[in-house]
Amino acid sequence: MSDPALIRRAVLTGTGTYLPAQIVTNEDMAKRVDTSDEWITERTGIKQRHFAAPHETASFMGAEAGRQALSAAGLAPEALGAIIVGTSTPDNAFPATAVQIQAMLGASKAFGFDLAAACSGFIYGLSVADAMIRAGQVESVLVIGTEVYSRILNFEDRGTCVLFGDGAGAVLLQARNVAKDGAGLLSTHLHADGRLGDILYVDGATGRREMPGHLVMNGREVFRHAVSLLSSAVTEALSANGLAAADIDFLVPHQANKRIIDGVGKKLGLPPERVVVTVDKHANTSAASIPLALHEAIAGGRIKPGALVLLEALGGGLTWGSALLRI
Ligand code: ACO
Repeated sequence: MSDPALIRRAVLTGTGTYLPAQIVTNEDMAKRVDTSDEWITERTGIKQRHFAAPHETASFMGAEAGRQALSAAGLAPEALGAIIVGTSTPDNAFPATAVQIQAMLGASKAFGFDLAAACSGFIYGLSVADAMIRAGQVESVLVIGTEVYSRILNFEDRGTCVLFGDGAGAVLLQARNVAKDGAGLLSTHLHADGRLGDILYVDGATGRREMPGHLVMNGREVFRHAVSLLSSAVTEALSANGLAAADIDFLVPHQANKRIIDGVGKKLGLPPERVVVTVDKHANTSAASIPLALHEAIAGGRIKPGALVLLEALGGGLTWGSALLRI
């Protein structure tokens, strides 16, 4: 008999990442387009990004990150229940990246699918995985964000091509019966507003070889909506859980831009040491940015078991949302 005082939750049991070997600094970008380290640093906080080599596709990088997360948790691939991949840059329209990763990992019993929510893909993925685990449909889900934005960037547009990078991050969520104040996902909140689709989009479908679409963005409009929508998303997460900002140990935001991150951190009144920032090293890796940042903070010993962590993201769609997680 299970203890009625315990709640079935999706608990984070492992994390993993993959970053392409090639590092491209702002100075390198300045050789390619009319820009400067000073402009990029001042406007965005970005100092460098990783760009994928031809073999480093979304599925390849996602599988590497996923393998690391499974191994950190000590779960055999054959025991995995499901794989959810947030990506806007899949290798192919189908099979889904998640299903390619299933084969690469040898996760023979897992089902999988991709989820298109741009930079909010990881938060959307966590939310779906959480619901499936709580409902008893699966015991374990790998949630992966994996992106090769270098293949959809317009290198004629200096206003966008300096902002993005490639990489993958993964978390393993496993069903556990825990006490009310125990570990696991406490809440997720998702939002979308398709009327704002024209301020950030890719003008075509993606694919591995010939890339028919490029990223297009109205940076000012995205910035304006990002700070206000993300601030309301974090307020919503706190009030749904009866918490105050002071209860949050760490904010792990989507890493789009240091100024957006600072804006939300300030709104919450969080000191910089409680906000995880990796945008300087990775730039904006879209759906991969939160799991990359989360892994770095956990693996580096900064975020420890028991910590209350708030995740938030906003991306093309627009889509946005939050997740509150106790490690
Ligand atoms: N290097 C040098 N100059 C540049 C560059 C560049 N890379 N890009 C643009 N400029 C120039 C412009 O041409 C313009 O020059 P002008 O005044 O002579 O016409 C000037 O800089 C100002 O351009 P703006 O686009 O108005 O610059 P802004 O101050 O708005 O900064 C930025 C642009 C950084 C994109 C900003 O709007 C922003 O941070 N937006 C948020 C968007 C974002 O982070 N998106 C990520 C994806 S969405 C997400 O993940 C949440």
